[in-house]
Amino acid sequence: MPPQTLAINRKDLFLRACRGEALPRVPVWMMRQAGRYLPEYREIRTKHAFLEVCKTPQLAVEVSIQPFRRLDVDAVIVFSDILILAEAMGLPLELGDAGPNLPNPVRSKLDVDRLKIFDPEAETGFLPEAIRRIVKSVGPEVPVLGFAGAPWTLACYMVEGKAKEGFGTVKSFLYHEPKVFRALLHRIAQATIPYLKAQIAAGAAAVQLFDTWCGELNLQDYEEFALPPVQEIIAGLGSSAPVIYYTKASQHLLSAAARSGANVLSVDWRVDLAEIRKTLGPRIALQGNVDPAVLFAPPDKIRDVTLATIGSLAGHGHILNLGHGILQNTPVENAQLFIETGQRALIQHASPAAQVR
Ligand code: CP3
Repeated sequence: MPPQTLAINRKDLFLRACRGEALPRVPVWMMRQAGRYLPEYREIRTKHAFLEVCKTPQLAVEVSIQPFRRLDVDAVIVFSDILILAEAMGLPLELGDAGPNLPNPVRSKLDVDRLKIFDPEAETGFLPEAIRRIVKSVGPEVPVLGFAGAPWTLACYMVEGKAKEGFGTVKSFLYHEPKVFRALLHRIAQATIPYLKAQIAAGAAAVQLFDTWCGELNLQDYEEFALPPVQEIIAGLGSSAPVIYYTKASQHLLSAAARSGANVLSVDWRVDLAEIRKTLGPRIALQGNVDPAVLFAPPDKIRDVTLATIGSLAGHGHILNLGHGILQNTPVENAQLFIETGQRALIQHASPAAQVR
């Protein structure tokens, strides 16, 4: 056994990665790691509806911990959904097999004015409660992650009502009534700050903002609409916990996204990590970015892509992850191979005795 002083725990490893430091190995987890590719998740879902799992701490804790138990991931993200916040703001939410549906979408100034800034412990207390219980269960040495949707991405659902119908309605709103649309984004930001603060107070070691749909915007509209409320949230959180900002299909936006104030940018597989590091500099950490579809490839390919991804940042300020959520039919053994390959990869500068508990 190496001397105890050289051992760091997973939470320290994760926080060091968030600070952009050199790492003994990269921490690794997967977006949507609690989900339908796991038989034990599907088993729970045969008995309980999706929103029931989100809102019942005992069930949310169980499914949050499933990937930790099965795959030994380095971070546990609390099981919830970005649309829980929309519901707490006053929009009825259905989450069936066809994806999310908000039957009373936001279409006018009156609809925006009606949205509530709510008390997260009172209205969504199940979420901080789940975090407290996860922390208790996995212990203080494992980072637990909280999250929320970024305002633009949440607004897409709140205005469109359904995800699968494109972005015509939300963009039309943005172009016809830019002031009202900005007020909507600001209101979402104002609701998100206490929502994330409650998660941090409950024990979240870091929080992630999901901006899945920001790549739909050109740079000008991104800077004018989507970025300011993200900056507002991150400034509102102060230094209470590191913030990871996930963007997808966003190569054209990354220099702007780097001005969000986030400690970590989480990017998809279209981005060359080494190149983006060169452009943005070493102070902003990066998360990602293996294509989730690579987990359908043969084992050698999964290993090669994972090692190449790690190699591109040489273990500096890097959290290994997929470039988007793990896909539903992913073989569990391939997810396992991705995690193990990430955790065992040797990094040149690392002391051979460095150990992560
Ligand atoms: O990462 C995790 O394991 C934590 C849980 C998590 C879920 N959703 C659970 C979920 C997180 C972080 C999210 C975020 C989320 N939700 C995003 C942003 C990230 C992304 O994936 O783009 C978005 C856009 C949503 C909205 C949402 N929720 C959609 C579009 C859907 C339907 C699509 C689908 O995969 O079914 C959901 C449902 C949802 N959220 C599921 C899970 C595990 C599937 C529900 C089920 O069990 O049937």
